Amino acid sequence: MNNSALHDARLALISTGAPYLTTPTCIAIIVPVLLLVFASTLAHSQEVEDETKPAKLPGSSLLAIFPFFNRRFDFINSGFRLTGKNIFQFNLLRKTVVIVSGETARTEFFSNKYFDLTEGVRILSGAIPIIKGVTSGSQTKRIATIHKRLQALQRNEPLTRLMPQMLDDAQRMMGSWGQSGQFDPFEKIYEVTFQTTIRSLSCCEIADDPVMVARLKKLYDKLENGTTPATILVPWIPTPAMIAKVWATKEIYDIVTAAIKQREESGIERDDTLQMLLEFKDEKLIVVGFIMGLLVAGARATGSTACWLLTFLGGHHDWRDKLREELEHLISIHTLLGDEDASLSRRLSAIPLETWESSTPVLDCLIRETLRLAQTHTAMRRNDGPDAYIDGKRVPAGAFAVYPFSDVHLDAAIYPEPYKFDPSRPLTTTPLGYIGWGGGQTTCPGQRLARVELKLITAMFVLGFDHEFVDKKGAPAPLPTPNWNEVLPPRGSCYLRYSRTKVAL
Ligand code: HEM
Repeated sequence: MNNSALHDARLALISTGAPYLTTPTCIAIIVPVLLLVFASTLAHSQEVEDETKPAKLPGSSLLAIFPFFNRRFDFINSGFRLTGKNIFQFNLLRKTVVIVSGETARTEFFSNKYFDLTEGVRILSGAIPIIKGVTSGSQTKRIATIHKRLQALQRNEPLTRLMPQMLDDAQRMMGSWGQSGQFDPFEKIYEVTFQTTIRSLSCCEIADDPVMVARLKKLYDKLENGTTPATILVPWIPTPAMIAKVWATKEIYDIVTAAIKQREESGIERDDTLQMLLEFKDEKLIVVGFIMGLLVAGARATGSTACWLLTFLGGHHDWRDKLREELEHLISIHTLLGDEDASLSRRLSAIPLETWESSTPVLDCLIRETLRLAQTHTAMRRNDGPDAYIDGKRVPAGAFAVYPFSDVHLDAAIYPEPYKFDPSRPLTTTPLGYIGWGGGQTTCPGQRLARVELKLITAMFVLGFDHEFVDKKGAPAPLPTPNWNEVLPPRGSCYLRYSRTKVAL
């Protein structure tokens, strides 16, 4: 209890009950109250002296911290400004949240083995609601197994088998766009990456059914966009947003379990990820968790990166030309005799995985710069170990630590003119100066798959279409700057005008 709360309690006591109280009763009440005041004052004076305690954000009423949920970048920056410190803390009801920044803090944040990403994200961002027996349970062991299965999926052989399938998906969808037109990349390109992510992480029964994929995309959008302060702060209260989230999770669960059942009952083996998962003979929750959970982790990150990358190229034609040159060169080396007139997806399939990974320097620096500038991520962890000290400030056991990627990726000392898209930037030597795929204890376990997926989709689009960034009316327009308060720009705020090249998709 702090002093002002105690003061209020005393006032309430005096104003309501005092006139009717006898002296012994008064003493019985007042003495403990005075002791409490004394203890609280002592605690307060200790608090003041405790240099390890992060500065507290002034005005920590619920209203003041609402922007943590809907304008996080602004909220965090104003916290640094208001406290004048590079580390500060605030409370979300009874949860302590410590926001950290700076090189030392970053290194300590990413190297703490007790910092739990899953719990940090689950509790502070609440994308997936907890449903007993579906998204709950003894998580740590299951998560470790799911990550192992993800590694198995990304071995050379399964990844090589996936590549032509992803290219066929991209060809089918891009082929339906017509000769020329205009679209919102955050809708259309996103749909393509969602399809290829579903292809990579689930099964033919779902990935071959466009209606089912569209349904899943809507449900995942509901999960991601349906997060409100209430669904995070009081997840046990059945607000309409929470009910919608629980319902969406249940529907996704039903779709995934129905596909698994269909496969098991049919007895037919297919060449897909579900088959690989079933062959491990894990418990069903691992298979369901793999598909449901990794789609949350992977679909939005891959989708938004592909959308931004192609949007940036829509305004940087010099880079688009360089990329085309790189890709045409690879195609010319790897196209088999007699396949010169084959479809683009077939010719791209002929490029080996190893070449995609080691001989695409232009694509590599485009992806790198896109992630630096447009991955508006904030890392969140729950401290599951003893009290931790970050740059000398305490993150108590059970509290949350938060590190905004903007702290490093928009740091003008590391990246001059940080809001400029410049893929030719030299690699930084600053410790953890680039964390596009994470760092320290937490690097993205889906990185290999995501990179290949991004490269294939970008190649299909850049060789199959000419494109340019335009406004709603189709006139050339300056490129937008990513708004770090959002994961994706609002619908209908970005447009690409496209026309087919002579290359047959
Ligand atoms: C362009 C696409 C992607 C990017 C840029 C990306 C980036 C990242 C980053 C930066 C982290 C660490 C986050 C943090 O420290 O808070 C991370 C974690 C993670 N990513 Fe990715 N990711 C991508 C795609 C994927 C895909 C496709 C999958 C799954 C197939 C995936 C699965 C995961 C998982 C499971 C974690 C949590 C790891 C853990 O708990 O230790 N990601 N990713």
